[in-house]
Amino acid sequence: MNYPIIGLAPMDGVTDAPFRYITDIYGKPDIIYTEFTSVKGLILGKPAIQRMLLRHKTETKTIAQFFGCEPEYFYQAALVAIEKGFDGVDINMGCPDKSVFRRGAGAGLILQPKLAKEIILSVKKAVKDGKEKLKIKKDITVSVKTRTGYKIPQTKEWISQLLEAEPDVICLHARTFAQKYSGLADWSQIGIAADLARNTKTKIFGNGDIKSREQALERIKEYNLAGVLIGRAALGNPWIFKGTIPTTEERFKALLKHCKKFREFFPDADLSIMRKHLAWYVKDFPHAAEVRNELMQVKSIDDVKKILSKIIL
Ligand SMILES: Cc1cc2nc3c(=O)[nH]c(=O)nc-3n(C[C@H](O)[C@H](O)[C@H](O)COP(=O)(O)O)c2cc1C
Repeated sequence: MNYPIIGLAPMDGVTDAPFRYITDIYGKPDIIYTEFTSVKGLILGKPAIQRMLLRHKTETKTIAQFFGCEPEYFYQAALVAIEKGFDGVDINMGCPDKSVFRRGAGAGLILQPKLAKEIILSVKKAVKDGKEKLKIKKDITVSVKTRTGYKIPQTKEWISQLLEAEPDVICLHARTFAQKYSGLADWSQIGIAADLARNTKTKIFGNGDIKSREQALERIKEYNLAGVLIGRAALGNPWIFKGTIPTTEERFKALLKHCKKFREFFPDADLSIMRKHLAWYVKDFPHAAEVRNELMQVKSIDDVKKILSKIIL
């Protein structure tokens, strides 16, 4: 991996295979994450979970993100990711959803540093064993994506614990568990993490509220980071990674391609899953809100085409 990188952050219900494809071809980020995937669900063989690790052929480094709280399931899930050709295994230690947190997974691991370290070591062992077994030469990173703390920032204590297990990367979303997505990301905490990791083998990525490629590059420089991940600002906007602004026509072309890819990856799925994506593309032109409303009713790709063809550019 050539650092620094600007990458697509993992987003549950968003960064599925078709979205990753579109982001990859239109934006060319340096690195792409899957949605978070339950290690237990994967290992116990739930078919819907297998779907989350579908992927397109690409040279772009693609990281499989997992959540859970059992080191053994993480070991097995990491082996699956390696077999599927992923370039890294990321451990979610930041999800604030109640259902995940209550089980001690996601941000719940911030309260269990000993278990968090065991999980990192388990994934590191899986990567070593998997590479040996499958005779893989490429680097496969082991990373953690987390938050600054539980109720208040505790970056120094928490990141120091994680550094003991020597993951390759820690991505810090500069909010606490309690903040969820509210307030502003506190980038000074990312600076603290970067200072702590300076003489270690672990690289630090920053994350939170980045709105443009230019801003990402500024933050990388200011905090001396190995990278930045962009989440919400990439919704309907894969071009953010290139730093270009698309025309409305380009947006519509991407939207239709996204629908096509959705159908290819998920032949039996309901197109209504795509509606939120459609709305994200449709902006910055007169009557965009009306078009968004119409798109909320679509049932087929033909419906989408009909709506877009009515718009005179
Ligand atoms: C809809 C949605 C789903 C998310 N799902 C995940 C996830 O599966 N794994 C994860 O580590 N973070 C997840 N996040 C958090 C993002 O990766 C990111 O840390 C957060 O949105 C802040 O970055 P941003 O301001 O660039 O969006 C999610 C965020 C959103 C908005």
